[in-house]
Amino acid sequence: MNIVLLGAPGAGKGTQAAKLVAEEGMCHISTGDILRQAVKDQTPLGIKAKEYMDAGDLVPDELIIDLMRERIQQPDTAKGVILDGFPRTTTQAVALDTMLSNLDRPLDAALLIDVDPEVIVKRLSSRRMCKACGAIGTAADGPTCASCGGEMYQRDDDNEDTVRNRLEVYETSTSPLVDYYRGCNLLVTIDGDRDPDEVYADVKRSLGM
Ligand code: AP5
Ligand code: MG
Repeated sequence: MNIVLLGAPGAGKGTQAAKLVAEEGMCHISTGDILRQAVKDQTPLGIKAKEYMDAGDLVPDELIIDLMRERIQQPDTAKGVILDGFPRTTTQAVALDTMLSNLDRPLDAALLIDVDPEVIVKRLSSRRMCKACGAIGTAADGPTCASCGGEMYQRDDDNEDTVRNRLEVYETSTSPLVDYYRGCNLLVTIDGDRDPDEVYADVKRSLGM
């Protein structure tokens, strides 16, 4: 099964993807996670991407499309993928259609996790992530990761000004994908402003799991 997770920054894409990985063993590809690792490793991609990410702007389409074209051909994707944070522009969505069609793997669904922007600003200012395993949590969970004991940190782009810019960028560049996938008869909208387990129950239901 090949799924796109759509939704504003902080809507809960990573949280829901982690549940699908843990329960269903699905392959999760987050362009944000790949880019943060590239920034940390100071690869050529990371060096180019850092400035855009710190400002909350999108990394240019050609860099992302090249990255995904390579990633989606790796063997771990053969049984299906959860795409989290890609595509984010119509150009990326069209490129994804071509990539999947070349691999003869149709997209099964585009799940939109829908959350009000003011809820998101509050969520992201208290989000913490584990430096070691990438687990997603909140400031209330304390400084140590419940899964692996690693150190929890705040993402550089989770300050209020950058979050507001990310929300504007989402409205302008990414929200048109809602109509794009509605037009392909692939869109499923899920109310993301509920307990994460309730959201997950809807995610599974919508995927026929
Ligand atoms: P990326 O890492 O993809 O960030 P994002 O889309 O802004 O989304 P987030 O990861 O912030 O949120 P999420 O929806 O995963 O929420 P989460 O589950 O963590 O991208 C970062 C940057 O990389 C971009 O700004 C851009 O520069 C670049 N980039 C990436 N992909 C790109 C692309 N394709 N093209 C161009 N540039 C690209 O949850 C958030 C918080 O809420 C957590 O604390 C969590 O515990 C909590 N939470 C989750 N669900 C719930 C719930 N139901 N109720 C209450 N709290 C909840
Ligand atoms: Mg995420």
